[in-house]
Amino acid sequence: MARETALVHTLGRFRPPELFRSTPFSDSSRRLNCEEIAESTDHVYIDAFAGAGVHKSKMTGEEIDGSPVNAVNTQPPFKEYHFIDLNGKKVDHLNSLFGQRSDINIHHGDCNQIMLEKVLPKVQWKDYRRGLCLLDP
Ligand SMILES: C[S@@+](CC[C@H](N)C(=O)[O-])C[C@H]1O[C@@H](n2cnc3c(N)ncnc32)[C@H](O)[C@@H]1O
Repeated sequence: MARETALVHTLGRFRPPELFRSTPFSDSSRRLNCEEIAESTDHVYIDAFAGAGVHKSKMTGEEIDGSPVNAVNTQPPFKEYHFIDLNGKKVDHLNSLFGQRSDINIHHGDCNQIMLEKVLPKVQWKDYRRGLCLLDP
């Protein structure tokens, strides 16, 4: 019992189903499942070398979605997006695609600095926020 109590405290907000079965939390209405945990956690997508959002095929001239567009089209959606690029023209293009969306943050500059100063402070474990970071230099 002491071990379970210690585990419950350590786990904080989430308790895995194994603990519920052998504790006063065993009421099925209080069991957490993966969906509940996913809904309680904010998922943040970070593209540190984002590019312009689209590419043009050298062979056909066809436009091909870049990683920012693919991320925004992914379902279920992320709660928040951060796109970083050093090239001002690519950042302008990202702004033309997504600039009006309040869940999308577009940063112009060196990702080595922007990640540490602006992005990672907003994606903290203690705030139940988890990041998926794409590094494609
Ligand atoms: C290979 S492209 C990214 C392509 C993109 N991931 C996609 O799939 O559409 C790399 C990008 O990184 C940018 N870049 C290079 N060094 C950077 C840096 N230190 N910080 C931010 N962006 C950088 C370049 O301007 C370029 O747009």
